[in-house]
Order: sequence, then C-alpha cells, then structure tokens
Amino acid sequence: MTDQVLKVQKIKNGIVIDHIPCGMALKVLKILGIEGDIGSTVTLAMHVKSKNGWKDVVKIEDRYLDERELDKIALIAPTATVNIVKDYKVVTKHRVKVPDVVKGIVKCMNPRCITNQNEPIEPEFKVVSKDKIIIKCRYCGREMDSEDIVENIL
Ligand code: CTP
Ligand code: ZN
Repeated sequence: MTDQVLKVQKIKNGIVIDHIPCGMALKVLKILGIEGDIGSTVTLAMHVKSKNGWKDVVKIEDRYLDERELDKIALIAPTATVNIVKDYKVVTKHRVKVPDVVKGIVKCMNPRCITNQNEPIEPEFKVVSKDKIIIKCRYCGREMDSEDIVENIL
C-alpha cells in the first residue's frame, strides 16, 4: 500500500497557498514571478481532492508574501487560503481578501485608456464582482476578468 501512495510532501518553512481554483496554480506562480529556478523548493499540485471538491495547491519553501502579492492572488484565486508554515507547523492561516479597489497592481487592457498614454496616472479599478472576479477601470470603464488580470499584472 505505502509504496503506491506518494503524498505531496509537507514543507518545513514557507507558505502553502491552498484551495486555489482548479487551473489557476500556474497563474499564481506567474504572478509571484516564479518562472525559472528560484533556488528554493516549489511544489505544485493540480486538480487534487479537497474536502468538498477539487483544488490546486502551491507550496513554496522559505518564501513569504507581501500585501501586494496577496492582493494579486486574491484577484485570480479568491478562494485561496494562505498558510504560513514554521518548523512543519501551520502558524497562521487566512483566506485571501479581495479588495474593493485595485490600485497600481493591474494595467488597464484598453490601449486607448488615459492610464496607457504616458500620463502620470496610476491605473485604478473598482471590483464589481467578487465571486467571479470582474474589475472595472475607473477611467475608461473597461471590464477585466481573472484571465485578463493575469495578462496585465504590474
Ligand atoms: N502543509 C504543508 N506542510 C506543513 C503543514 C501543512 O504542506 N508542514 C499543507 C497541508 O498539506 C495543507 C495546508 O498546508 O494543504 C494546510 O494545512 P492544515 O491546516 O494542516 O490542513 P487543513 O486543516 O486540511 O487545512 P484547511 O482547513 O485550510 O483545508
Ligand atoms: Zn482603462
């Protein structure tokens, strides 16, 4: 039995981004700028069983997240929980929080938007839907979903 079951390893220190919607784990890595070797262990699990359904999971040893990164993750994986692990134990666990306003972390996808005209205007969006994420540009009204957000992250 045991040699037929290889569980995803626990980590010693770092973060576990859990309950990511299926299909979004690679996008979470992209958002965190993890595209090549970062010199620490990264574990990725896609479409694994969760208590009630299926999820993706990303584990990163010796890496922590700042507020900006947490906001970015919330926008593409609003159901995610972030667990901080110290010496094999989960010391904090919280669900990411989708902000009401998104400022300076996503670029408007409308090339004609004033925020894309070399003016010193910081892109700003209102979050108009939080279950299926939709953000709306404060300046041109363009709406963007999670897929658009990944492509336009700053
Ligand atoms: N985990 C890990 N390494 C550790 C401790 C935990 O990789 N040293 C992972 C677990 O595999 C799990 C997540 O971190 O994916 C959260 O761990 P835990 O809180 O122990 O699990 P649950 O109680 O099942 O979490 P939840 O209720 O959030 O689903
Ligand atoms: Zn715009």
